[in-house]
Amino acid sequence: MKTPQSKNDLPDTDIPSVASIPRHVAIIMDGNGRWAQKRGLPRVAGHKAGVETVRTVIQSCAEKGIEVVTLFAFSSENWRRPKKEVTLLMSLFLAALQREVKKLHKNGVQLRIVGDVSAFDNKIQEQIKKSEELTKNNKTLILNIAANYGGQWDITEAVKALANQVESGDLKAEDITSELIKQNLTMCDLPEPDLFIRTGGEQRISNFLIWQLAYSELYFTDTLWPDFDRQAFEDALTSFAGRQRRFGHTGEQIEKMKNA
Ligand code: IPE
Ligand code: IPE
Ligand code: MG
Repeated sequence: MKTPQSKNDLPDTDIPSVASIPRHVAIIMDGNGRWAQKRGLPRVAGHKAGVETVRTVIQSCAEKGIEVVTLFAFSSENWRRPKKEVTLLMSLFLAALQREVKKLHKNGVQLRIVGDVSAFDNKIQEQIKKSEELTKNNKTLILNIAANYGGQWDITEAVKALANQVESGDLKAEDITSELIKQNLTMCDLPEPDLFIRTGGEQRISNFLIWQLAYSELYFTDTLWPDFDRQAFEDALTSFAGRQRRFGHTGEQIEKMKNA
């Protein structure tokens, strides 16, 4: 295996950022089902309540000057849930898109759906296209909704694209670099997440952004997604601001760079 021998072999993205506000926040919105069950309600009531939290978080991001927020709404593994729950999640997704897109547009939010959308029914696919088209020039905040998304799917698609180029003779296998793989991932035009948040108490990635989280700061909270309010989000940002991101450097080097 080749390891970079000097700083010059490393891409620019490895240079530490000392910003106290993350540019990109990625969130696994977990705990809706348990929130509902605790109240003796059907799981779908938790998903409905979770939509309210989505609104609050988007608003907070815009106010804080965060540039990108990526929300995990439905994983490529969530199809394994009972058919009834999947159907309800789909109709909730469609209804939320239909209801919220005008308001998002008015607030300067650019909406992108990331994931294999070809698995969704036509109505959802059409609404996705319409929403993305309407909001594509907005600049206040980029909102990625990860739907039928899997980090392994994302990397597999990138590898397939590169393999096609090798097959057609446009690329040599030995010229494949991590940078090239990165350029073929969804969201390759955006900064990688600085802060990752998972609500609901589990401490795992669940096939979310595997590649892109390589150097993100991780924040786990027991708070269930519907209870994740402004203050809870603020707490996550405070935790982030207190971290020293080193990207392989020593703490002393980082301090020196900060003071330079
Ligand atoms: C997250 O909440 C939402 C989706 C996965 C769609 P869950 O539905 O996973 O809630 P818990 O983890 O069962 O409480
Ligand atoms: C991850 O949550 C997916 C989303 C929040 C959309 P899950 O609840 O599906 O994750 P696991 O199955 O507990 O790992
Ligand atoms: Mg869950």
